[in-house]
Amino acid sequence: MSKPQLLIDTDPGVDDALAILMAYAHADIAGLSIAAGNVGLGHTVRNARTLVDLAGAATPVFAGCSTPLVRAADEDAAFVHGQDGFGDIGFAEPAAALADEPAALALLRLTHERPGELTLVALGPLTNLALALRLDPGLPGRVARLVVMGGAVTGHGNTGKVPAEFNVGFDPEAAHVVFEAFPAFDLVDWEATLRHAFDDAEFDRWLAAGDRRAAFFGKIMGAARRYNAKHDRRGVIAADALAMAVALDPSIVTRRETRAVAVELDGRLTRGATVVDWSARLGWPARANIVLEVDQIRFAAMVRRALGVPG
Ligand code: BDR
Ligand code: CA
Repeated sequence: MSKPQLLIDTDPGVDDALAILMAYAHADIAGLSIAAGNVGLGHTVRNARTLVDLAGAATPVFAGCSTPLVRAADEDAAFVHGQDGFGDIGFAEPAAALADEPAALALLRLTHERPGELTLVALGPLTNLALALRLDPGLPGRVARLVVMGGAVTGHGNTGKVPAEFNVGFDPEAAHVVFEAFPAFDLVDWEATLRHAFDDAEFDRWLAAGDRRAAFFGKIMGAARRYNAKHDRRGVIAADALAMAVALDPSIVTRRETRAVAVELDGRLTRGATVVDWSARLGWPARANIVLEVDQIRFAAMVRRALGVPG
């Protein structure tokens, strides 16, 4: 079977790193386009280049927007991922080059060069993707699929604006543009992520049995693990890894609902919330395939392979 062909927009970030290691283990990556989000763009670009080095790959890395499209973000996620987004380990300057092309233009060019071939996987705020869509609304017609990690479809969320999830809450206008533009996309939300956390002890066994990728990931995840333990978030929560599993193999999804999903752009408490029209009252087109459950055993197997765990 031929490998999945991916184009990944990301803001690495600890769980982005696991997702990208999964992509290297199971797919070909046409490019990494980088957003600001978990931490500032300088760090997310550098972290992406560190991952390219770790993979021993030559994947082009494209820097994107350093701010959201319209309003400055209220918060980043350095308090979870570390000030540098990779657990403040102090890695050396990476060797992998930064391409001399803005992320939004690279998304357009690569999809023109390979129409219908690439699955676009969005693991961060949707700023680059929205900008690309405003430049060229034909983009959705040139990608095989879009898989988005974002939203909180039952309103729990993980940000200061209670019902909002981080990626959508960081740049709500961008998410609005993307959700309106794509006729269909897979949405892996924060609450699905919580249902698919890995058991801590089991994850530790994988880290001990894996290769240098496991050693790397074990280091960078320390800060996020400590944060989650203090805030009653159980197990190893890997939002972007779950979205990557769906991108790599859509047959892993065991329960989904297709609904209209809109983004709240105002609201004193709710800016950035994803509003799901669960009972189809508004008559809007149902574009989002909301992933509710995946086969956890297959998801775990994908993660183990990405960490170099034998067998
Ligand atoms: C999302 O926000 C980021 O902190 C993670 O990398 C993930 O993409 C989860 O809400
Ligand atoms: Ca991310």
